Amino acid sequence: MANHLKEERTLVIIKPDGIQRSLIGEILRRYERLGLKLVAIKMMVPNKDHIEKHYTLDPNWRTITGEKTIASYKKKGMKPPSEDPLEITAVILENLKTYMTSGPVIVMVWKGVHAVKIVRKITGGTEPLTSDVGTIRGDFVLDSYQISDIDKRSVRNLIHASGTEDEAEKEIKHWFEENELINYRHIQEAILYDVNLDGILE
Ligand code: CMP
Repeated sequence: MANHLKEERTLVIIKPDGIQRSLIGEILRRYERLGLKLVAIKMMVPNKDHIEKHYTLDPNWRTITGEKTIASYKKKGMKPPSEDPLEITAVILENLKTYMTSGPVIVMVWKGVHAVKIVRKITGGTEPLTSDVGTIRGDFVLDSYQISDIDKRSVRNLIHASGTEDEAEKEIKHWFEENELINYRHIQEAILYDVNLDGILE
C-alpha cells in the first residue's frame, strides 16, 4: 500500500492486439491526460510461464474470472459453457497464454491518487461488448465472450489493468525490478495536489 494517496501505483499492459491495432499512442494519451504520472515503461515479448504467474498471483482470480463469465452469459439470457467457474477459467488461462505471448506487449506503471480505480474506469469493463462508451475498450474494440468462446480464444480487450492496490503492487513486482521504476517530480503535480496553490501569481 502506498504511503501517501498520491503515491498509489498501478500496472497496465497494452496487450498484443493493442499494439497491432496501432493504439499505443491513443492508450497512453488516455491515461496521461488524467494527470497520472508514468514511472516505468518497457516493451517485451513475455513467455507463457510469466503470463500464467501474472494471472494467478491472486489466488482468487480463477474463481472470480469464472464467476464473472457465468454471470455475463446469464445476464444476456444465454447458457454459459460450464456451470463450474474453475473449468471455465482453466480454458481461459490456456487461451490467455497463447494470446499474451503472440507478440510484443507494453508494460507500464502509472502513479497518482486513486491510480488503480481511475485506470480501471478509463479502461472499461473486461468484455468490450458491454464496456461503457467513452472507455478505451468501449471505444476501440468490439469483441465478446460469445465469439471468443466459439472461436476458443481469449477476449481481445487491448489492455490489462490491475484490479486492486494489493494486486497492483504484486503485479508491479512481477514485471519490474525496483530500479526500473523512476522516482521523479512532475511539474503538474503542483496544480493537482498542492494545498495552497501559492506560487502561481507573480
Ligand atoms: P484481463 O483484464 O487481462 O483479465 C483476464 C483476461 O482474460 C481478460 O482481460 C480477458 O482478456 C480474458 N478473459 C476473461 N474472461 C474471459 C472469457 N470468459 N472468455 C475469454 N477470455 C476471457
